[in-house]
Amino acid sequence: MRKPIQQSDSEVPVSIYRKDYAPPNFWVDKVEMGFDLHPIRTHVATRLFMRRNPDRSENDLILFGEDIKLLQLRLNGVDLKKSAYRLTKECLTIVNAPDEVCLEVETTIAADKNTTMSGLYVSNGNFYTQCEAEGFRKITYFPDRPDVMASFTVMLRGDKDAYPVLLSNGNLIEQGDLGDGRHYAKWEDPFKKPSYLFALVAGKLVCQEEKFKLQSGRQVLLQVWVEPGNLDKTQHAMDSLKKSIRWDEQRFGLELDLDRFMIVATSDFNMGAMENKGLNIFNTKYVLANPRVATDTDYAGIESVVGHEYFHNWTGNRVTCRDWFQLSLKEGLTVFRDQEFSGDLVGTETGRAVKRIEDVRVLRQLQFSEDAGPMAHPVRPDSFVEINNFYTVTIYEKGAEVVRMYYTLLGHEGFRRGMDLYFQRHDGQAVTCDDFRVAMADANGRDLKQFERWYSQAGTPRVSAQGHYDGSKKTYSLSLTQSCPKTAGQSKKKPFHIPVAFGLIDVQGGEVPLQLEGDTIVARTKILELTRESQQFVFVNVEQDVTPSLLRNFSAPVILEFEYCDEQLAHLLAYDSDPFCRWEAGQRLAMRRLLNLVSAIQKGVPLSLDILFLDALKKTLIDTSLDPAFRELVLTLPSEAMIAEEMKVADPQGIHQARQFARAEIAQYLKSDLLQVYQDNQTPGKYSPDALSAGKRALKNCALAYLVEWAEKSTYELAYTQYQDAENMTDRMAALLAMLHCSSALDKVYRKTRNQVLLEFYKEFQNDALVIDKWFTLQATAPTTDVTQVRQLMQHKAFSMGNPNRARSLIFAFCNANPAQFHCADGSGYEFWADSVIALNKLNPQVAARLARSLDRWTKYPKAQQTRMKAALERVAKTKSLSKDVAEVISKALA
Ligand code: ARG
Ligand code: ZN
Repeated sequence: MRKPIQQSDSEVPVSIYRKDYAPPNFWVDKVEMGFDLHPIRTHVATRLFMRRNPDRSENDLILFGEDIKLLQLRLNGVDLKKSAYRLTKECLTIVNAPDEVCLEVETTIAADKNTTMSGLYVSNGNFYTQCEAEGFRKITYFPDRPDVMASFTVMLRGDKDAYPVLLSNGNLIEQGDLGDGRHYAKWEDPFKKPSYLFALVAGKLVCQEEKFKLQSGRQVLLQVWVEPGNLDKTQHAMDSLKKSIRWDEQRFGLELDLDRFMIVATSDFNMGAMENKGLNIFNTKYVLANPRVATDTDYAGIESVVGHEYFHNWTGNRVTCRDWFQLSLKEGLTVFRDQEFSGDLVGTETGRAVKRIEDVRVLRQLQFSEDAGPMAHPVRPDSFVEINNFYTVTIYEKGAEVVRMYYTLLGHEGFRRGMDLYFQRHDGQAVTCDDFRVAMADANGRDLKQFERWYSQAGTPRVSAQGHYDGSKKTYSLSLTQSCPKTAGQSKKKPFHIPVAFGLIDVQGGEVPLQLEGDTIVARTKILELTRESQQFVFVNVEQDVTPSLLRNFSAPVILEFEYCDEQLAHLLAYDSDPFCRWEAGQRLAMRRLLNLVSAIQKGVPLSLDILFLDALKKTLIDTSLDPAFRELVLTLPSEAMIAEEMKVADPQGIHQARQFARAEIAQYLKSDLLQVYQDNQTPGKYSPDALSAGKRALKNCALAYLVEWAEKSTYELAYTQYQDAENMTDRMAALLAMLHCSSALDKVYRKTRNQVLLEFYKEFQNDALVIDKWFTLQATAPTTDVTQVRQLMQHKAFSMGNPNRARSLIFAFCNANPAQFHCADGSGYEFWADSVIALNKLNPQVAARLARSLDRWTKYPKAQQTRMKAALERVAKTKSLSKDVAEVISKALA
């Protein structure tokens, strides 16, 4: 018999372009699947009911498939001869298919051998799937692209003892015994969906469940599934789910459309969680919590990720993406929604502002850096090699900022009108970012054409502002100028449509009513729309000289430049009514000093901090009228990564030394106040993760971390006592962190005790994987931990390269969050990085490619370090059978 024509699959990474998008030749109406679950050989029988797309002239039926064995192909009841189709490593093409097709496909999968955690895989003996973005093709041959939406019926069969629980999307319509020790469950999803939203879970799991009444009165079943032994850690996820359902009803009028909604937690997961229709699969990190094992940050993370995945049911599932270039259509929008959800739940205005500041901090530290590096891409990319590399902070966090700008420009009601129109027009469809933008514009009668540039142009825009007060005319004129640095493939940028929220603060610290020349409206905050390269805004009736409060609430993802003097910044920090700008003023004061300290270290001149700055911090610290959480944010200095971003040539050791010096000085100057704050912000009684209690703990623990810098036995003992007496993980971790991360002088005196504490901690929590992750991270990020020690930790019996959480907890933590050690002068950090990328590449390309990005900014370092980094990058580039995931990242870094 003749062999099927084998197309050569080229080794060179192939780019896919947005401009090449074409609709599929065939649509799929209905999918019926039968799974016989077995870890070594799962058998999958699929029946696809397809019909020709009348808009297409090509006759080939194209299906994707990867790493699966094809057993059988039948077209409209007739076995397909091998000559009737072409099969390559990634593609199955049936030439000249008829208009109506019933295609029967049989495949087998070796799920136990699948270490990629994409497709069908086994974890702790259970089956899980991850199909976004292109994992469904590792289950069966299918037109695995998001614009192909079909209804699914799924029959699961498996051993009763090994797989007592059998779950898939939608509603359970039948279950029963098969004799022979096996049983089955049949699931039907009433909604059409793209294949990336398919899911199945099978194994030994238990659930917390609850009936919940929707606002309409309809009752639904909610379940949180976990491995046995974890039922004491599901309550917070369940509560978060109920809050999410309520919030989407109230804020957006969106109801849960299924009778059953399930969340499943697995400890082997590449990302945070996945919004599969009715069957969300989560990393245990974003489900499991109780006060003993989870910190306030964990609690907040669970609430927002449960919300995020739930909100996808409308923004992602009911309305999905036409192609993967539109990924931010669902991700940016859903991140915006989860941010608003968390903000609304806090309830208070400062609480909301604290959440906003935390989100902005993440954006600036990670996304601004991405935008300035070799992987810079627009919110809607023009091309990619591997789509999994584009689940980035740009798509997610910058995408959310872009959505937030509609909200800022159109207002609360206007934004809601836009959302309503978006669903009215596109429910059940696979659409583009343009469709969303046009819905926002049409619903509000606005022209948002220029706004499109936020989707197509990469890079972080800079807005520089200049202000002038004219005492004789009583006017304040503000001129704004925008620019955007060039990025890969985009040398010239056109002006963006930038909302700049603006206010004026007078000498007494009060808000000046704003009135634009020729305008009658008076407001405290004005949204200025900067659409040209340069614009001037003149405010009238300004009685005295003022300080401008710019980019309030961080109204656009830009870098705002204004030549503030120290006194103006201290004034804003003391009086601005906008909490974001208030915090920002403190950060600007701090950044200026940190940069000066780094340069003093480089020149070898003595270091010092000035009283103006120390007093400004002191005022905030002791101002009990301010929210504790807000005070903590002001007291926290810009991170080492943020400082590096501000320098032309980064100096990780100098930066670390400078920041540590500043911390010690602050501790010295604020000693008694810090102690007072430490005492005043205890949270005795039953643990509660609410924002006020969490804020108190954050402030108290921030004070503790400063106090240990004071390098005296008494403060160290304060930390040790807190560690021993802690009744929750937040306080326990904070104490441990204070002990392990404080200045090195203490290290010599107390090393033994520290190691003892680490051992004790390990023994107590060794059966709790998520806590052991924290234990690894704590050590990986300690300023005293060097490459050799990290390599030693990899030999620990609890370390495993194959578990993504564990790999992240040690390797990623060291490479990304311990810059002074990672960038040590001999380059051993880079060698360690290369070894790890190469090892991970064989197991899990997605995770490997994430780690590969740790060297993105290699050109920012001194020449000698650049040479070492380049050598490490080149070593990875030359590795045999490099995945396209890693190859794309490395080749872009070296380009
Ligand atoms: N859609 C999921 C989320 O929003 C992320 C899944 C990404 N998975 C992947 N393998 N790229 O949170
Ligand atoms: Zn998402």
